[in-house]
Amino acid sequence: MCGIVAYIGKQEAFPIILKGLKRLEYRGYDSSGIAVQKDGELNIFKKQGKVAELEAYVADKDTSGTIGIGHTRWATHGEPNDVNAHPHGSGNEKFALVHNGIIENYAILKEELITRGHTFKSDTDTEVLMHLIEEIKSQQDCSLFRAVRLALNEVHGAYAIVVISKDNPDELIAARKSSPLVIGIGKNEYFCASDATPIVEFTKNVVYLEDGEIASLSLKDGLKLKTIENQEKTPYIQELEMKLEALEKGGYEHFMLKEIYEQPRSIQDCMRGRLSLSENMVSLGGILNYKDKLVNAKRIIVVACGTSWHAGIVGEYLIEELARIPVEVEYASEFRYRNPVIDENDVVIAISQSGETADTLAAIELAKSRGATIVGICNVVGSSISRATHCGSYTHAGPEIGVASTKAFTAQVTVLSLMALMLGREKGTISDERFSRLLIDLDNIPHKVESVLKTDAQIQHIAEIYKDSPNALYLGRGINFPVALEGALKLKEISYIHAEGYPAAEMKHGPIALIDEEMPTFVIATQDASYEKVVSNIQEVKARKGKVIAIVTKGDKDVKGIADHVIEIPKTDDMFVPLIATIPLQLLSYHIAVMRGCNVDQPRNLSKHVTVE
Ligand code: M6R
Repeated sequence: MCGIVAYIGKQEAFPIILKGLKRLEYRGYDSSGIAVQKDGELNIFKKQGKVAELEAYVADKDTSGTIGIGHTRWATHGEPNDVNAHPHGSGNEKFALVHNGIIENYAILKEELITRGHTFKSDTDTEVLMHLIEEIKSQQDCSLFRAVRLALNEVHGAYAIVVISKDNPDELIAARKSSPLVIGIGKNEYFCASDATPIVEFTKNVVYLEDGEIASLSLKDGLKLKTIENQEKTPYIQELEMKLEALEKGGYEHFMLKEIYEQPRSIQDCMRGRLSLSENMVSLGGILNYKDKLVNAKRIIVVACGTSWHAGIVGEYLIEELARIPVEVEYASEFRYRNPVIDENDVVIAISQSGETADTLAAIELAKSRGATIVGICNVVGSSISRATHCGSYTHAGPEIGVASTKAFTAQVTVLSLMALMLGREKGTISDERFSRLLIDLDNIPHKVESVLKTDAQIQHIAEIYKDSPNALYLGRGINFPVALEGALKLKEISYIHAEGYPAAEMKHGPIALIDEEMPTFVIATQDASYEKVVSNIQEVKARKGKVIAIVTKGDKDVKGIADHVIEIPKTDDMFVPLIATIPLQLLSYHIAVMRGCNVDQPRNLSKHVTVE
């Protein structure tokens, strides 16, 4: 959730770290801080609020030094303020530490340290870890590296940390467990960050730390890796494929808007090399070795959170319809805390944009321990989830910076569509004629998304009308029910309007009580198998004087006659409507949030990478 950036080299560390923190701000943005070492001094600068506040705060201060660590925080222990912000210094002011994760046994450790004379300034678990390292170092009179390693053997929980020392201008110590950390290797310099985004403009050579690894980054001695149990490891250097432009706003006012507009391309990228009209085939290279497992699966369980969970429900409809395999979709956080019936005959599909979501990762580990085969659908290459699965398919949507997921959702649904088609073809559950027709339809989706994006002016007009509504209802049936859920989530997370998604037929079992003249109801009413039923649901809303904004198939007449507003989308096969119908709902949420003056890319209380349970 928090973001870490660290640097050691010949350049000034502060500006590199500051820029890196801005790139990582989507991970957490309630406070930030940087510590730099220079001439035996350790200077720590911390500020509540966005990284820009920190930048303003240091404007008249000496921030020079060529080694430093920085952090942007999403508060877990202790409210967001200057004191709780990282880096946290040791009692003797010789060391400083930045941390992402949670030290679960911090309270017991803190008590012990207090009895040994330690005093604490903040409410954080991180400061406790810093003092534990300090205590071990002074007790054992050992190197800082050893002290950090031994301290990590005493803590329970999750961490990515970087430690800096006042006395050693040539070493950063980094370690991880259940929270990602990447080391960038430059010429005579090293970078360290929670993900590769702050590193990519400096070097393409990276080492992803594995769980339980600790690294020493030294200009003199190079990069040294060990496990926290003290076993030597050889760093595995990989080349980054990320492009710098993908991390910039590219002329758009917000990352979210840019990412919405990128969808024709991201969906295309996701299908590239996987769908071939000329060969009339679909192939997902990353799962080929496990194809038989999937084809013969008695049941598929999808585990995911948030928007990825919504994509999983679309996947349920796709796989059940096209491949006739029963699918269950579970919140990862619920799945992991009960005793699920699962064994080696089950296939688990784990969906995650970031590939770092703690609950999804834990659900994977649980399913793996029971012998299930795990298939990943991730966006971030090299992420923890992509490495924890047996096989998988990347979504290739490119970096998603806006906290509200948009292009990652449509890319996830695209992979699930390809998977369903591939499995249906293998199992013989789709006719040749339907398979070919679906291939053509899916291949056409990027053009159709492009044409929906052209309705933006009309969507802005609708946003203007409903921007002040305190509540909103989203309805859809069948494969469009998860689209309703996703539409509601987009609105609530970025505009703070209370919104609920429901299967349209469920409305009369409760939510209909909410409908009055003020209440907008957004309905996916495209011409598919349940069209007439949805039209009846719209009538029910109108009979109670509710306002209806309907997403309809181009040329629709019936809904146009009764709804207050219609947004037309091109006709496509029922199976692929979610890929198109989602777009106007994303735009609508975006415009409403902007009109309400909300911070669209960094909505309050949220983080892009939910690496705590
Ligand atoms: O990275 P993941 O896909 O695993 O993240 C899951 C959710 O945290 C995420 O989808 C969240 O709901 C987004 N803010 C939705 O826009």
